[in-house]
Amino acid sequence: MVKKKQALGWIEWLIGWMHVTYELLFQRTKTSHLQNPLELPPLNDLTCIVTGTTSGIGKEIARQLAEAGAHVVMAVRNRKTANELIDQWCSSWAGILLNVEVMELDLLSLDSVVGFANTWNARLKPLHVLINNAGIFSIGETQKFPKDGFEEHLQVNHLAPALLSMHYVGFVDTEDMNTVSGKRKYSSLLGYTNSKLAQVMFSSVLHKRLPVESGVNVMCVSPGIVHTNVARDLPRIVQAAYHLIPYFVFSPQEGSRSALFAATDPQISEYYESLKIDEWPVCSFISQGCHPTNPSKEAHSVETSFKVWEKTLEMIGLPSDAVERLIEGKEVRCRYGTRKD
Ligand SMILES: NC(=O)c1ccc[n+]([C@@H]2O[C@H](COP(=O)([O-])OP(=O)(O)OC[C@H]3O[C@@H](n4cnc5c(N)ncnc54)[C@H](OP(=O)(O)O)[C@@H]3O)[C@@H](O)[C@H]2O)c1
Repeated sequence: MVKKKQALGWIEWLIGWMHVTYELLFQRTKTSHLQNPLELPPLNDLTCIVTGTTSGIGKEIARQLAEAGAHVVMAVRNRKTANELIDQWCSSWAGILLNVEVMELDLLSLDSVVGFANTWNARLKPLHVLINNAGIFSIGETQKFPKDGFEEHLQVNHLAPALLSMHYVGFVDTEDMNTVSGKRKYSSLLGYTNSKLAQVMFSSVLHKRLPVESGVNVMCVSPGIVHTNVARDLPRIVQAAYHLIPYFVFSPQEGSRSALFAATDPQISEYYESLKIDEWPVCSFISQGCHPTNPSKEAHSVETSFKVWEKTLEMIGLPSDAVERLIEGKEVRCRYGTRKD
């Protein structure tokens, strides 16, 4: 019997790091065709929810969408910072009011996610774009399991965004997504890469399950390697290196282009529809150069993607036929959002 591989070997790690170094050295050359900032069309008819808009890439995405006229909902855990940002943006527009509001969302609590979605849905207003931007990379931290019991990278980067997405409509080890078995030694890098790969796989299945008539496009994007607060936990020496190579590292404004492109470019629906009729494996993925690209080989594993899909729905407390039921307009019960703390 062939023994199932439990983790990446050193060759895969080496290839991975070579890939990151190549991306860092050449990302600016490969995106030299793009304007900075990306030119956006008037977006007055668009309502967008953007998570994690208090810093980095999310802050840029929210500001630029709002300045192009969109109604932007800043979904954040720190309302004070978000309100201060809105004041800053409005004053730099000579007091012109931008159509931005703040709503509270803490991705470390699945109850908070459901509460947020219910509050939004109760308004019965259309939502055109949901940008699941918020994320963490707690470099060098020990493994943490906040109150819902899930590893924190998996929860913030994958489970909570998956639950939020469901309300609107590698080497991932599906037996051990929460990295609790001890089979793989935990590191924050493992937690981060695991959560991001799970997010791509889940999105691929969601993309395939949603019929074209639903009018919902699911897209993953890469911002590139961007100088933001995500590096706040890096060792001092690595942070210093970040400052020494400013030419290679993107600014948040440059890093926001792929998400803004995916949210607003008219060609996106065409690309999306063509992927719908493609055979598996399929990943709808936009690169930092704002063109369709293929994520890692692992992300294309159909079998693992379906396991990640099933396991994610189980973890976020939804039935396995949730999408089909939502499309038919039937009620779907979620385990979260009913707890009284
Ligand atoms: N920077 C890069 O090179 C890079 C590369 C690839 C992918 N990304 C991805 O890009 C996204 C944005 O990252 P960034 O680089 O802009 O990092 P950042 O500056 O650290 O911003 C992260 C945002 O996520 C929010 N957030 C974190 N935990 C949250 C929680 N529990 N609930 C609600 N919001 C939470 C933060 O809010 P607080 O202010 O409250 O902490 C902040 O607004 C992430 O998903 C990251 O993985 C970044």
